[in-house]
Parts: sequence; structure tokens; C-alpha cells
Amino acid sequence: MTKPHLSVRGLHKWYGSVHALRGLDLDIPQGQVIGLIGDNGAGKSTFIKILSGVHKQTEGQIFFEGKEAHIARPRDAMNLGIETIYQYTAMVPEMSIARNVFIGREKRKWGVRGFGMLDHAAMAEEAMAAIADVGLHLRSADAPVKDLSGGQRQGVAIARAMHFRSRMLILDEPTNHLSVKETNKVLEYVRQMREQGITVIFISHNLHHVHEVSDRIVAFSRGNKVADLLSEETTVPHMIDLIT
Ligand SMILES: Nc1ncnc2c1ncn2[C@@H]1O[C@H](COP(=O)(O)OP(=O)(O)OP(=O)(O)O)[C@@H](O)[C@H]1O
Ligand SMILES: [Mg+2]
Repeated sequence: MTKPHLSVRGLHKWYGSVHALRGLDLDIPQGQVIGLIGDNGAGKSTFIKILSGVHKQTEGQIFFEGKEAHIARPRDAMNLGIETIYQYTAMVPEMSIARNVFIGREKRKWGVRGFGMLDHAAMAEEAMAAIADVGLHLRSADAPVKDLSGGQRQGVAIARAMHFRSRMLILDEPTNHLSVKETNKVLEYVRQMREQGITVIFISHNLHHVHEVSDRIVAFSRGNKVADLLSEETTVPHMIDLIT
């Protein structure tokens, strides 16, 4: 058993009077793909929003690579190497593909007066290389992200995570509204991540997809962890039983 990449202890989240997460304890080893399942409102997104700095836990601790982590804002998660991909919010649609790849990590060139200007050419070139590395073929990194399909957007987000060597990738419903072909591509990306030893948390209502790509299945129900099994110890019908 390798030492945990991420551990949480006694994690609670209250939204006003709603107790969305009720004392979660979880250890995730480096390089494992965790499939997180649960019915609507079970607390899945709440958990990953805490890890990605969107919400702060009400109570409890997070340990990342053995040290206690205080994740107060998305920038803190980014600095730890935690990248989160949602269907809609991971990209700024009006901005170019290249700008989206470098969001928060823009490349600048330094003028004579010492102020930085965005280095568009360098970002476009590096973005194209990163995108090609995940096997996605786009014509130009200068096109706005809104011109891409859902699957292509996921591909760009994943290229970004790989390019900046994210240590942990969280995908919350990444295949919603994608075509079968695009969905298969996203599942393939998850397998690529796994081969590179990146820890992945994969959330989906499609239990077949979850079972297919995950090493381990964690089930939530009403804010509680109700099951924690290796994928080979469970089946899709069993997973349905766990969450209903
Ligand atoms: N920002 C918020 N303010 C108030 N309540 C919230 C907020 N976000 C989530 N909740 C509540 O917390 C509970 C857990 O929601 P969460 O989004 O974590 O569920 P989920 O497991 O991701 O569900 P789904 O599968 O539908 O995405 C629900 O009761 C939800 O209504
Ligand atoms: Mg959710």
C-alpha cells in the first residue's frame, strides 16, 4: 500500500441548515482512479468543491502528500497540483484555446520598461503541442473555446492538466451532454492519466463508465460514505443498489 496522496478526516460541510457532508474520512493513494458515485444531492460535488477551493469545509482536515493543506481558494488547489474539470466552468468560452490553456499561468515577455506583455505566440505554440500530446487535433489555438464541441473542450482541459503536470485530476460529470464518440475519448483520457500515475477522482451518473475506468468505487448517500470497494469487488447492478 503506497502512502496516501490525499487524505481527509472528519470533513463536514454545512450550507446554512443543509448538512451536505457528514464527517467524511477518505484516503486516496497516489495514482489511483477513484469513481465517486451517489444519487443527486449525495455530496459528491460538495466534496470536490472543497478540494478545489470553491467552498471551504465547515469542519475537518485535508492532508495532501502527507502535509495538512489549507485550501481556501482555487489558486491554492492549483498550487498543490489539483486540477478540476467540470462540463461548463473549466473554460472561458470567449477566450482563445491558448489563453484557456494558460489561464492563471500566462506567459509574458518583458519589455524594456520592465512590464510584461502577454506572449501570445509562445502560448499558442505551446498550447498546440500540449493538445497534440493528448491526441486531439485542432487547427489553431487562436480560435475561441466557444467554437469547440463539448468533447474538444474536455480535451483542452485535460491537455492543460497534463501540460502543467497536475498531480490530481478531478472530473465532475465530464461526459454529460457528450456524444458517444466524445465520451469514449474522455474515458480514454482518464486511462492515459492513470498510465502516467496521476490520481483521478471521476464522478458520473453513468455507472458503466465509472466501473470501466475506476480502480476503486466510493459511494456517497446523503452526505455519508456508504461504500468503499475495489472495482473488481463490485458490479454495476451492485453499484445501483449501493446508491439507492
Ligand atoms: N451552494 C449551495 N448552497 C446551498 N446548498 C447547496 C449548495 N450546493 C449544494 N447544496 C446542497 O448540498 C447537498 C449536496 O449537494 P451536491 O451538489 O454536493 O450533490 P451531488 O452529489 O454533487 O449531486 P448531483 O449528482 O446532483 O450533482 C444538496 O442537498 C444540495 O442541495
Ligand atoms: Mg454534483
